[in-house]
Amino acid sequence: MNRGLLITFEGIDGCGKSTQLNKLADWFKSNGRSVLVVREPGGTSIGEKIRNILLDKKNDEMCSVTELLLYEAARAQITSQVIRPAIEEGKIVICDRFYDSTFAYQGYARGLGEKLVRDLNETATEGLAPNITFLLDLTAEDAYKRRKGRGEAEDRLEAMGLDFQKAVREGYLVLAENDYRIRRIDASKSIDDIFETIVGEVEKEIAACGTR
Ligand code: TMP
Repeated sequence: MNRGLLITFEGIDGCGKSTQLNKLADWFKSNGRSVLVVREPGGTSIGEKIRNILLDKKNDEMCSVTELLLYEAARAQITSQVIRPAIEEGKIVICDRFYDSTFAYQGYARGLGEKLVRDLNETATEGLAPNITFLLDLTAEDAYKRRKGRGEAEDRLEAMGLDFQKAVREGYLVLAENDYRIRRIDASKSIDDIFETIVGEVEKEIAACGTR
């Protein structure tokens, strides 16, 4: 049986993760692999309820620690119920955000610190780590323009404004500098150029860990 893989996509809101992760899922399927695409927070019925609480703009009284614990609760649920079993079945799991989001958003931008987030991530995932993570890096200004262009309503986190998104980006860049697992990709490039880079990195990873 093929070995499973966990591939995660990260970046500030509007960086273009969804386009790329769906293209990657199609690429794996055309190569005969069984793929599961999930998102965080969400991906389980409990997680989707938590997601609604987290992203609801009406919940503007939510304190940072509540926010952190809710993200971790949703993560614990999807990891045990969906992600770990799928990987054990040999599937490719592609996750739209995983625990690096919590480092960047809650640890860095909200200022809750790396240690607390690391400990909670460890508990929520029972030590499961992505094999490879793509950080689609874009300036907060460019990401904001893209989001406006799509005309979607802002959620609670997006409504925090440009300075918050700038801090999140900074958090991601610090993470990527210190961890080879995280491949930083210039998300201002064309969709095809970005995808070519992603596939190249995935092929290298597959060769390195022998999952074919
Ligand atoms: P998205 O599905 O549109 O990316 O929305 C999820 C939002 O939640 C996004 O603004 C990033 C934020 N988020 C955190 O703040 N911490 C986390 O741990 C995760 C997974 C997401």
